[in-house]
Amino acid sequence: MTGSLARDPGAPAGAGAPPAPSARQEAVEARLTEAVVSSFDACPDQRLRFLMQSLVTHLHAFVRQVRLTEAEWSAAIDFLTRAGHITDDVRQEFILLSDTLGVSMQTVNVNHEAYEHATEATVFGPFFVDDSPEVPLGGDLAFGAPGEPCWVEGTVRGTDGMPLAGARVEVWEADENGMYDVQYAAAERAARGHLFTDGGGGYRFWCLTPTPYPIPDDGPVGRMLSAVGRSPLRAAHLHFMASHRDARTLVTHIFPEGDPVGWKDSVFGVKQSLITPFRRQQAGAPTPDGRRVEGTWSRARFDIVLAPAETPTSPLTGDTDSR
Ligand code: BEZ
Ligand code: FE
Repeated sequence: MTGSLARDPGAPAGAGAPPAPSARQEAVEARLTEAVVSSFDACPDQRLRFLMQSLVTHLHAFVRQVRLTEAEWSAAIDFLTRAGHITDDVRQEFILLSDTLGVSMQTVNVNHEAYEHATEATVFGPFFVDDSPEVPLGGDLAFGAPGEPCWVEGTVRGTDGMPLAGARVEVWEADENGMYDVQYAAAERAARGHLFTDGGGGYRFWCLTPTPYPIPDDGPVGRMLSAVGRSPLRAAHLHFMASHRDARTLVTHIFPEGDPVGWKDSVFGVKQSLITPFRRQQAGAPTPDGRRVEGTWSRARFDIVLAPAETPTSPLTGDTDSR
C-alpha cells in the first residue's frame, strides 16, 4: 500500500490527527512496506501468504497513518505482554481484547452471513462448556443459581418453516450476580443446560431473567476500557446454541428489550433481530406449567430459524459447519 496515508479521508480527524509527512518521507515508508509484503511472495500456502501480506499492509498503514511514536509502540508491547501474563487456561485476555475491539463480532459477521430469514448469530463468549446437564422439556436449568425465574419457550424450524424435531438447544447464562457457574469457587453446573425439541420443534424451560454483567475487567483490557471511558458491561443476554443434523448450527443470544446497557454492549454483540420482550409477571401470576413461584417472574418467546446444513459458513473458504 502506498500513498498519502496521513491524509486518508477515512482517517479519524481531530486533535489527535497528525500532519502529513513529506513526499520523500512517504516514499521511504512505502518502500519498507513493499519490502516486507514481498518477503512473503514465496510462501507456498496461498491463504497464509494472503493473510500475512494483508496483515502487514494494514499494520504498516496504521503505524504511518497515526504517526506512531516509539513510546506508544513500547506501551502497546507492554500491554500485550501484560495480556499474555494474565492469560491462563481459564482467563483469556486476548479473546477479551478481540471482543472489546469488535473483532470477535466482525468475525461472526463475516462467517455467518444472514441467510434468508434464519436467526442471526452473535458472539460465542468464553463461558460455554460442553458437558451441560440435560433438562427435560419444561425443566429448570437454573439449578439453584440466584436470580428471578424466567420461562422461555419457542420453536426450532428450518427456513422452509418445517419444525426441526430433536434439535439440541443449549442455553447458558450468568446469575443475578453476573457470575457463570465456571466462575464459582465450587465446581458445579448451574444456569446452563441442554434440551431437545419435541415433535413439533417446540421447546420450553425455566431459567433466570438475564441481567447485565461486566466482562472480566481486572486486567489490561479492563484498564484500556477505563482509560477510554468505556463500560465493561455486557447487555443482559441469554446464550443459545441450536443444532440439528439437517441444519447449520447457530450460536446466538437473546437480549431483553429495554435493557439499560443495550447497544452499549462492551463486545458489540447486540443485533436488532435478537432483541426480545421479556414480560415481567406479578407475584402470584399463574405460570405456564402450574409451578408455584415466590415473587415476580418473567417470560419470553424465541422462535429459532436454522439455515440449511449445506449453507456455507464462510464466503471465502466455502466450508460448511459440521457440528
Ligand atoms: C459472554 O457473553 O459470556 C462474554 C462474551 C464476551 C466476553 C466476555 C463474556
Ligand atoms: Fe454471556
